[in-house]
Amino acid sequence: MQDTDADWALWGEMDPYFGVLSQDKYRRQNLTEDTLDEFWAGGVSQMEEMAGHIRRGFGEFPRATALDFGCGVGRLTRGMARMCDHVVGLDVAPGMIAEAQRDAPENTEYLLELGDQTFDWVNSIIVFQHIPPVRGYAILEDLLSRINPGGVFSLHLTLYKDASFMPYLAGSLRAARFDGERMEVLGVEPSPRGAMMMYDYDMTRLIEITARHGFHALLTLHTNHGGCHGAILFGRKGA
Ligand SMILES: C[S@@+](CC[C@H](N)C(=O)[O-])C[C@H]1O[C@@H](n2cnc3c(N)ncnc32)[C@H](O)[C@@H]1O
Repeated sequence: MQDTDADWALWGEMDPYFGVLSQDKYRRQNLTEDTLDEFWAGGVSQMEEMAGHIRRGFGEFPRATALDFGCGVGRLTRGMARMCDHVVGLDVAPGMIAEAQRDAPENTEYLLELGDQTFDWVNSIIVFQHIPPVRGYAILEDLLSRINPGGVFSLHLTLYKDASFMPYLAGSLRAARFDGERMEVLGVEPSPRGAMMMYDYDMTRLIEITARHGFHALLTLHTNHGGCHGAILFGRKGA
């Protein structure tokens, strides 16, 4: 299986802002004060939007402690810091964490590993898509178990790809069978180091896991990033 942690360590060192949002204007050599302002402002408005969805679905929620899982350079963590007393940004890439710590708001803390902390709000956007689901489900279980009673989550999970994404997949396909209805992949070529892998999760399994952790109503928001479809799931743990 692809070592995605090593891939992300590389992005953290080489080009952290482009690793977070893969647009040319965020490449290291193109960064300007204006594009950075835009980058941070986007994080603030995205988290205000997330909080709005949570409120509409579940009412006002506790905000003493929050976690931004896969925080990158802290784009969304900073947005959460405006709404919460204390926010932890967690990431697997040391270079991302080092960058996040520069000029960080006082009520934020950036970590490569968690201890036994629990949280009122756990957020993760455009992160699980890059983690092989066999690991991702276990991480999800851990994050949900850390949410305090009455606490909430906003979690982005990718679910399927449409035809517009197929050219990207075809490059790594070694062999497949097609019976007129379904395509069965028989083998894929290994991806190069530093590839941004895109995985899909199973919604049935996500509902099973979240329900088992005390989240009995989910709000879903459809997402589509270049043919990779998914959902941002919002939930509140029973008190
Ligand atoms: C596309 S970036 C998004 C960053 C941030 N969520 C945002 O939207 O600004 C994905 C981030 O997830 C992190 N990541 C990938 N796998 C991870 C893992 N297993 N645990 C924690 N972070 C991970 C990467 O290092 C990277 O910083």
